Formats: sequence, C-alpha cells, structure tokens
Amino acid sequence: MEDHPVLARALGAASLLVKREDRNGARVGGNKLRALEWILPAAGTSLVSMGGYGSTWCAALALASESLGRRVCAALFPQPWTDLVAATLGCTLEHAEVRLARSRAHLPWAIAGAWRTARRHGAVTWIPAGGATPLGVLGTVNAALEFAEQVRGVEPVDAIVVPLGSGGTAAGLLIGMWIVGWPVQVCAVRVTDPWFANRRRLMRLVERTRKLLERLGLEVVRGSATLRVIGDQLGSGYGHATEAGRVARARFADAGIPVDLTYGAKACAALGPLACSFPHICLWHTFDPRLASRALGEHPQLRAARRYAESLWPHPRSI
Ligand SMILES: Cc1ncc(COP(=O)(O)O)c(C=O)c1O
Repeated sequence: MEDHPVLARALGAASLLVKREDRNGARVGGNKLRALEWILPAAGTSLVSMGGYGSTWCAALALASESLGRRVCAALFPQPWTDLVAATLGCTLEHAEVRLARSRAHLPWAIAGAWRTARRHGAVTWIPAGGATPLGVLGTVNAALEFAEQVRGVEPVDAIVVPLGSGGTAAGLLIGMWIVGWPVQVCAVRVTDPWFANRRRLMRLVERTRKLLERLGLEVVRGSATLRVIGDQLGSGYGHATEAGRVARARFADAGIPVDLTYGAKACAALGPLACSFPHICLWHTFDPRLASRALGEHPQLRAARRYAESLWPHPRSI
C-alpha cells in the first residue's frame, strides 16, 4: 500500500492510496493471481479459457498453471495490436497452447479447437474469461480484508477505484467491504463491452459468491458499501487506448506507478472526476508489467495475431 500525496493534490483529492496488487506475487503479480490462488487447486490438469490476444488473465493462468504441472489451452480473440499485446501474448504462447480467432465472430471455433487440444491432456476444466467465478472472487475478498488491515487507523477511504472487466475484482472488493462494514463506494471503471461488464452481471457474481461463502459457513450481509459502474472511460472499446488514459498513464509513470492503457490507465483517468465527490480515494492497481516483460521474438502465432489484428485495426497507436 502506498500513499501518494503529490498525486492526490494534482487530482484534487485529499488523499490517494495505491494498493499495489501488481506486487502481490514473487515471480509475477496482479489481480488475476488472487483468483488463481483459489481456482487452480480446485481445477483439473487440463484447462481451457479465453481472452483477448493480450489478455493478462490468460498469460497469468498459463504461467501459474505450468508451474503446477497443468496444461492450458487458451482461445484468444483480436484486439488492437500494441507493444504490450505482443509481449503479453508472447508470455501466453510461451506457457500455453493457443488457438487464435481471426475475429470475434470466429471465437466459438477457437474455443472448440482449444477444447479438442486440451482433451488430449485429460479431463478438461473450463475457466470463464478473467477467472470470474465465485471461487476466484474469494481471492479478491481476501485482498480486500488485507487492504482493511493495512489502512486500519489511517484516514478512512471513501472510494476504491478499480478497472472493470469480467467483474471478479470489483465483486470481491464489494463483498470484502461488506464483511468489514465500511461505507465505501467501489467505483468499477468499465474497460470492456457493456454487455459483458455491467452492473447486473457483476451483482449476479456477488450473489453467487455470497451463496458459496454461506455454504462454507460465512454469512455475508449487505453492508453500507455500494457499487458504481463508470462507463465513460471506455473510449472505442476493449484494448483501445484513450487520450485521457494516455495523460493519466504519463502522470502515474512520473510517480513510479506503471499502468497499462487497457486497464489501469482508464481507472486512473476516472480519478480526477471522482475526486470531486470522494476526498479519500484508493486506486486498486491491478496490472503487473512483469507479465509482459519477456519478448518472445519471432513466433508464427505472434505473426498471425498481428496480421489479424492489423487487418481489423490498421493504425493503432503503439504504446
Ligand atoms: C490487469 C487487469 N486489470 C483489471 C482487470 C479487470 O478485472 P476483472 O476482470 O476482475 O474485472 C483485468 C482483467 O483481465 C486485468 O487483466
């Protein structure tokens, strides 16, 4: 946990805490590690999941699974081609088998191909995109309880700002805040399509996780913490950088906080407007650049992915 008074002043907030989830692991970190800590022990030996070409979820799943002797086959759909996408896909390719869809419409075929490949390695466990299952959410519930311990006795936080993709991270934060009984607003900044990242799906995940906890003997009552979905930072869609995101990324980089343009920069861009209503803010920093730090070099699937992505978005600005 870090306190950033200079950034807080620049944003117009009274205080800004940054929860460095990018540092929550020794080899790699990030919010997805929290979900994997719970999902992997319960999963079989052969796993199938999906995400964008530059999915940090699939990269983290591939890396963590390989170190436990599991096999991952990932079905990936195109997103604008940027340096970070190439590097993250490089990580997934290094640790998993990959089926590339050449467009979103082709994703069902890529999933079917991934499934066929995975079946060769044993009974297949399907893991939804982003690891957004009740079991995975427990990882962020734990992180929220850890956060509460870290800030106990400090100025209370009014809002926690987090990127919203599959919803598991925001769901875990809301449940965690209900458990500790804090009147916080969880501000989930949408970074992907509204049909996928929305309040209804997120609250359904919250309810399913509450039921799981109840079955495990912990009844979580709805507390005063609330959820707000922020939709105005998405820009042209998942993986498309925004100007506000670029400005925010540069500002946070100056403070030693490396955020990516797909997730973190859009959450950072929402901080300024939110500071008007919430004096004491926490940014939930989810992206670990170590997942995208090893260039794979030439790889046929890397070349194919680039070709597909650039045929859909010919001129993405590189990051
Ligand atoms: C780096 C990063 N931040 C934030 C998110 C969004 O988290 P969630 O999918 O739990 O909503 C993701 C999702 O993949 C991610 O990879």
